[in-house]
Amino acid sequence: MRIEWTEDLALGIPEMDKQHQELIALINDFYNAVERGERDEGIRALFEGVDRYAVFHFSAEEAFLEQIGYPELAPHRETHAMFRREYLTAMERHEAGDRKAVRDLVAFLFSWLYTHIQKTDKRYSAFFHQQAG
Ligand SMILES: [Fe+2]
Repeated sequence: MRIEWTEDLALGIPEMDKQHQELIALINDFYNAVERGERDEGIRALFEGVDRYAVFHFSAEEAFLEQIGYPELAPHRETHAMFRREYLTAMERHEAGDRKAVRDLVAFLFSWLYTHIQKTDKRYSAFFHQQAG
C-alpha cells in the first residue's frame, strides 16, 4: 500500500501542495526501504528524513495559517503535534527491537497524511480561498 499525490489532495495553494508532494515522496521512499528489508541504519536515515521534512512542513503550514488569520489554527497545530508524538513513539519501539513497529508506522503515515490533507487541510484551503474572494 502506498499513496500517490493526486488531484483530490490538491489545496490550490502551490507552496503547500508542493510540500505535501515532497512529504509523500519521502514516505514512499521510506515504505520502499521497509518493503525491501533495508538494514537499520538505512531505516533510521529515512525515518529522520521524513521527520525533518514533516517538522519543516508543519511549521511552514502553521506560519501560513497564522498569516491568513485562520481561526482553527490551535486545533490544527495540535493534530500536527499528536502526529509527531505518535511518529516518535513508533520509532522508539523500532529502536527497542519491535520489528513490526516500522511497518505499523508506515501504514500510519499513509493513512494519517491522506486523511489529514483531505479533511483537515482542506478546511484551511476553503477558508483561504473564501478570504481571497
Ligand atoms: Fe496540516
